[in-house]
Amino acid sequence: MDDSGKKIFLNHGSEKKFQRLEDANNEALKGGGERRIEIQHKKGKLTARERLSLLLDKGSFHEIGKFVTHRSAEFGLEKEKYLGDGVVTGYGTINGRLTYVYAQDFTVFGGSLSESHAVKIVKIMDLALKNGAPIVGISDSGGARIQEGVDSLGGYADIFYKNTLASGVVPQISVIMGPCAGGAVYSPAITDFIFMVEHTSYMFVTGPKVVKTVTHEEVTAEELGGASTHSSKSGVTHFSESNEIECIQKVKSLLSYMPQNCEELTAASDYKDSLAIPGILNEIVPDNPEEAYNIKDVILGVVDPDSFLEVQEEFAQNIVIGFGRLEGRSVGIVANQPMVLAGVLDIHASQKAARFVRFCDCFNIPLLVFEDVPGFLPGTHQEWNGIITNGAKLLYAFCEATVPRITVITRKAYGGAYDVMNSKHIGADMNFAWPTAEIAVMGAKGAAEIIFKKEISKARDYEKELTRREKDYIEKFANPYIAASRGFIDEVIMPQSTREKLIAAFEMLQNKVDSLPKKKHGNIPL
Ligand code: HXC
Repeated sequence: MDDSGKKIFLNHGSEKKFQRLEDANNEALKGGGERRIEIQHKKGKLTARERLSLLLDKGSFHEIGKFVTHRSAEFGLEKEKYLGDGVVTGYGTINGRLTYVYAQDFTVFGGSLSESHAVKIVKIMDLALKNGAPIVGISDSGGARIQEGVDSLGGYADIFYKNTLASGVVPQISVIMGPCAGGAVYSPAITDFIFMVEHTSYMFVTGPKVVKTVTHEEVTAEELGGASTHSSKSGVTHFSESNEIECIQKVKSLLSYMPQNCEELTAASDYKDSLAIPGILNEIVPDNPEEAYNIKDVILGVVDPDSFLEVQEEFAQNIVIGFGRLEGRSVGIVANQPMVLAGVLDIHASQKAARFVRFCDCFNIPLLVFEDVPGFLPGTHQEWNGIITNGAKLLYAFCEATVPRITVITRKAYGGAYDVMNSKHIGADMNFAWPTAEIAVMGAKGAAEIIFKKEISKARDYEKELTRREKDYIEKFANPYIAASRGFIDEVIMPQSTREKLIAAFEMLQNKVDSLPKKKHGNIPL
């Protein structure tokens, strides 16, 4: 620039070349053009570039493949080309840490996926894999670029393949901010976490029209595959946010709990010891074993203030999963929830927790389990839909996890569920129990009815005899001391000392090295 602000070029040839670059850059920034951007905004949606600028640290984004265009010449497409071809790809930082990103641009052919569009995404994924950093993909797409046919389908398959190779190597996060339909849903499904935005995003394998034709069901896109459906009914999405800005904030927060790749540990966050002695924990478990309490109060009484990030909050609420911090260090939390179905394990709860346990194990995040479980949910629905196979998923996930693993039994630990919920027998490193713990084959009433069946049936006063026998059983078994005498419980602790005990135990376990027998891979009961 000279003093008057005019550009100075030493050489006239370069000036034209530089101008060409500037023009192309400006053109690429416009995506599908002002009119389509306006339509996007009217729908309450941001553009791909706006989303990335909110996601990444200011000024950190470097775009890759800005001038890529499609190569299709069918249906007049050769005359309609947009720089970038409907997806913005590149890298930047989130909270100072390298992250690879892509965002589909609905203003260009409805964000539909062409061969070139897929190549751009795969390139980003390859870089993420080679350099060991997370991938965040923002979907907003009408699916396969219809004019391209099989080239587009091949592009999807290339992405699915790469998602699978990247699984367990780098964290992969999918953010659905518009349509995501047909086979396109399988890329997010393979990734570690899915985010959706209420009312502006949906996911389904077949849309409402096809559903009507095949099953005669009348259903809207929102009912079939909107954020609330997938957060509460199917469990497909892990987070459902009310708008795009909140959604992006949540993505950033989630990333802060995980390392960059499977070789690293999550960096500890700054932590100031400000938590008051959590004496409230002594008061949480009610005297009556039939009475519920909220396990989230226990979690909040133990982890660093404001550090609990719940995952799949609306789905299978009988189990709570999420991330928290103990003196700044990230832990994955799995907790039975006595407030919902008495905290019983069922098909959905087992699936939800199993996938979470595996994620934590992939990425070296220690596991903390709070246990209050009366057993597995009985019934034909559960049996016919495979509680055996699904319960085994959770068992398997815990068994093969090699990260530091600690369990705190707050109250019930009954039957097979005792074994499954990170018991000592399946490899937990430290098992604590509160004095209120009841570690037994089953609840006292059911147990008394079986083992004292004859005595009770002969008794004059059936109810009185049952109560007496039940009391006997409670005195003998509904406590943590038999398990502690066997060494299955390492220490019976006062509830209020839980945080302190956990901090010390996780610190003691921080250099844990464990490995599984040599194998190609295990065969989890899918
Ligand atoms: C090419 C597409 C497109 C597609 C949308 N567009 N989807 N172009 N291929 N798949 C274009 C439109 O022509 C339009 O172009 C612009 O994107 C915006 O689309 P609208 O229909 O105006 O937007 P809207 O009303 O918001 O509706 C969005 C929509 C609808 C619901 C996504 O466009 C739609 O139903 N699209 C087709 C969806 C589909 O059937 N896809 C294939 C699914 S099968 P202009 O120029 O007007 O802006 C599949 C298989 C994947 O994906 C298999 C992987 C294994």
